[in-house]
Order: sequence, then structure tokens, then C-alpha cells
Amino acid sequence: MTIGSVTLLVIVCFCSVYAQSSRKLPDDFNIGVATAAYQIEGGWNEDGKGEGIWDYMTHHHPEKITDGSSGDVACDSYHKYKQDVQLIKSLGFQRYRFSISWPRIFPNGFMNKVNQAGIDYYNNLINELLANDVEPMITIYHWNLPQNFTNFGGWTNPQIVSWFTSYAKLLFESFGDRVKLWITINEPKQICVFGYGTGIFAPGLNYSGVADYMCTKNVLLAHASVYRLYDKIFKPKQKGRIGITIESVWGEPGSDAEEDKKAADRMIQFDFGIYAHPVFHKNGGYPKVVEEYVARRSSAEGFSKSRLPKLTPKEIDYIKGTSDFYGLNHYSTMYVKNKLPDPITNPCRIKDMQVHTYDDPSWLSGSISYFRLVPWGFRKLLNYIKNNYQDPEIIVTENGFPDYGEIEDNNRIKFHKGNLNAVLDALIYDNVKVKDYIVWSLMDNYEWSEGYRIPFGLYHVNFTDVNRQRTPKASCGFFKDLLYTRKLAHDEN
Ligand SMILES: *[C@@H]1O[C@H](CO)[C@@H](O)[C@H](O)[C@H]1NC(C)=O
Ligand SMILES: *[C@@H]1O[C@H](CO)[C@@H](O)[C@H](O)[C@H]1NC(C)=O
Ligand SMILES: *[C@@H]1O[C@H](CO)[C@@H](O)[C@H](O)[C@H]1NC(C)=O
Repeated sequence: MTIGSVTLLVIVCFCSVYAQSSRKLPDDFNIGVATAAYQIEGGWNEDGKGEGIWDYMTHHHPEKITDGSSGDVACDSYHKYKQDVQLIKSLGFQRYRFSISWPRIFPNGFMNKVNQAGIDYYNNLINELLANDVEPMITIYHWNLPQNFTNFGGWTNPQIVSWFTSYAKLLFESFGDRVKLWITINEPKQICVFGYGTGIFAPGLNYSGVADYMCTKNVLLAHASVYRLYDKIFKPKQKGRIGITIESVWGEPGSDAEEDKKAADRMIQFDFGIYAHPVFHKNGGYPKVVEEYVARRSSAEGFSKSRLPKLTPKEIDYIKGTSDFYGLNHYSTMYVKNKLPDPITNPCRIKDMQVHTYDDPSWLSGSISYFRLVPWGFRKLLNYIKNNYQDPEIIVTENGFPDYGEIEDNNRIKFHKGNLNAVLDALIYDNVKVKDYIVWSLMDNYEWSEGYRIPFGLYHVNFTDVNRQRTPKASCGFFKDLLYTRKLAHDEN
């Protein structure tokens, strides 16, 4: 009897430990891998391609890039796309998310001149993917704006809504018969805040608290316009789905104090709520707290109106509900505390926010100190999206880890394992509708203002080799095994 119950106990313990140490991916859980045009293609002026804002910035202001480099050649995927498809297929990925270079399609930006060679390139890539059983997912705008538009204010010019819609229309007409998953815009915050607020990204304007907010409104309207075009004209025939991708961090209150809880919420609203709330919240429009804080500070600075351009009731309705899924790029979590208002000087988005953020140095990080592995933060974020934005379907469109370029990239494996478990916990225990996880990135590539210094790839790329030799890292083995067995190990963190 005694012996029997001891044995039983041992079996029970063994089973629960076993269940925790390995779990099966649900059959309909998709795993894919991502890249973006400027970061991998190269061929910057080949076959009729026009100049994009990153071409211009890297050529005229190399001092803005940490290693002074450009994406002129990058991974040379313009010539090596067939090899890329084999890299994707050999690991068993089900989906490839890539982006289109706008100036490869419309070299001057304007619609009077289409570059057929650009259309051909993407047709070839799409056909190659389908022939190898990999589903294409297209990002229409991943920061590759024709340089010409910058002369007219780029994303701060309301006319961009019409330019962007015409560009997207040609993509639907050209590729929509075979492509069923679309992302309108990748990471509006990075476009507006880094491109027009701090100036670390192309086109490099630094009018924080003014131009970034002008951009915000236009990005939302441009996204909504393209969604509505697809939904009305193309979806009935092509039967695809389309949404926006928003990079979202998790903000955890730095203490139980009410002011810190409010600060964490405020950080979330300024960081991604300003883009997500207008599209996904049942009432639409900007988060109230963002409107209040920007208006109050604008007034103290002597502005007669808020620096955040208003959305009219008509615009609020137009933007609301325009996404078939929440495209989520997630990289990290931070703690947030309240901060007293800064003295009134120049407009500044960070000062509008009135928060202090920091992280826990014990959380795993690599070559970007504020990108850290925090699976519980990821799970809380997924629940936040479910609970505040009408329980949308969520596609994790990016999740990845920057390290120092190790071939034995064990920290990258740890990162994906930890976060995939967080996603599965949210799916299985919290009923969050998240069944797609896309890894950033297929291979080391051009990391914007950081140049080639920050690798995110599953494959190493030798950037001093004319052939841009790709070498699998340990993380390739991890994903290959995961996609073959569909069993995910569960480490104790
Ligand atoms: C801008 O457009 C004009 C004509 O539409 C063209 O001649 C010019 O080359 C373009 N400039 C850039 C930088 O693309
Ligand atoms: C903003 O850009 C201007 C022009 O390039 C430059 O002179 C100035 O130093 C920049 N300011 C900041 C805060 O980066
Ligand atoms: C990268 O390529 C260069 C030039 O072919 C070669 O000399 C070097 O050994 C390569 N580096 C690695 C890590 O393979």
C-alpha cells in the first residue's frame, strides 16, 4: 500500500515534469520567417529601380549609420532569391513574410511610371515560394519610401494617403491572385518617431512632438484607405486577409503605487495605443490619455491647439475596424514609473509622456540592451490586446533576438523557446487568438541605423564575401527540429 502510493506519486511527478519539458504545437499553429526589402535586397539602382529614402540617407549622411554602411548590396537577395527560398524551405517554415520596395515599382514615386522589372522580380519570388510550398506574406510598406516624396514632406503630407493607395492597388492587381496575406504598414511608431521625431531613421527629420504626430495621423489614414480598397474591390475575388503591424512593448508598473500603474498605461498608450486604439478599439480614435497629455503640454508651450492633429468623427469611423488581424511585432518588456513634468522648453514627444522606463538587468539580452527576454511580459501583452481591442486574431509578425553574431547562437534559441512558450500559454490557457508566429529574421541583414553590427539572423551572412555566403547557425537546427517534430521544449526560466 505504502509502496504502491509512493510508486504512483513518482509516476504522477514524472508525467507532470515530462508534460512541462516538452509540448506539442497545435496542428493549426503556423511558424514563418521574415525579412524586409531594404535590409536584404541590394540591387539598389538595378533594372530601373529609383532612389529610396534609405538610399539617400546612407549615401549622403553615412555619419548617421553606426558603421557608415548602406544597403546597396546587403544580402544580395535581388540576385539570390532562389537560394533564399531554399534556405526557408530546408528548415520547414510554412510562411515567408517579405516586403516590397516602393521605388523598385514606382522609381519616381509618382504613378506615371511603373518599372516592369520590379514587378517581375516580385512575381518570380512569389512563384518560387509557391513552387516550394511556402506561403508568401507581403508587407506593402517596410520603410522604403521613394526619395521624391521627401521633397514634399513624406509621411507628414496628407497627400501620402493617395500615393500609398495607388501603389498598393498596383500590388493587389499584380500579385493578389497568388498572395493571400497582406500587411499595409510595418511599425508606424518607428516610421513617425524615428523618421520625423528623433531623426535616427530616414528621412532623418527631427521635429519631435510635432512632425511625428502629423505622420501618425497620415499613417493611420493611409492604412485605412488601403484596407478599405482591398476589402471592397479585391477581397471578394482574391479572398485574402489584410492588416497592420504594430510594434508593441509591454509596460509593467514599476511599483504598486497608483501613479506608477497610470504611468505604465500611459507609456503603453503613447507607444502603441496611439496606433492600435484608432484601428482596434470599439470606440476608435486616439487614447484619451494621449490626447489629454499632449493638449495640456501644448497649451503650456503657448500653442493655441494641440500638437497632435485631431481626428474628425468621420476619420475616426473611417479608421475604426480596418484590420483583419493584429500584426504584432514584439521585442521586449520594460518597467515604468511616473515622472514629474519637465520644464517647458521645446516640444518633445518623450516629455509629453511623463514616464521613466527601465529594465531588469537579470533579463537575458544581447547586443541591444533594451531588447530582453521576458516571456511573462509577452503573455501579458497578448492578454492586453485581447481584452482591450475586441479579442482580435493576432499574428506575431516579428519576434527576434539581436546577439553578437555567434554561430552557436544559444541565447537566440533560448529567446525563441521562451517566447514561443509564452505565446502557447496565452493561446491555450488564456484563449488569446494567436496562432501565427513569424521569426525575425531569416538571415543577418542591414539593421537600419546600426548598419551590419546587429545580427538577428538564423543564418549568418558573410558581408565581406562577394557571394554573401550564408551559414546556418545553431538556431536553424532548433527551428528545423521544432518544425519537423512539432514538439517544443519547455525550459525553466
Ligand atoms: C523625382 O521625380 C522626377 C519626375 O517625376 C524625376 O525626374 C526625378 O528623377 C525623381 N527624383 C528622384 C530622387 O527619384
Ligand atoms: C536636428 O537636425 C538639425 C539639422 O540636421 C541638426 O542641426 C540638429 O542638431 C538636430 N537636433 C537634434 C536634437 O538632433
Ligand atoms: C568571409 O569571406 C571572406 C572573403 O571571401 C573570407 O576571407 C572570410 O574568411 C569569410 N569569413 C567567414 C567567417 O567565413
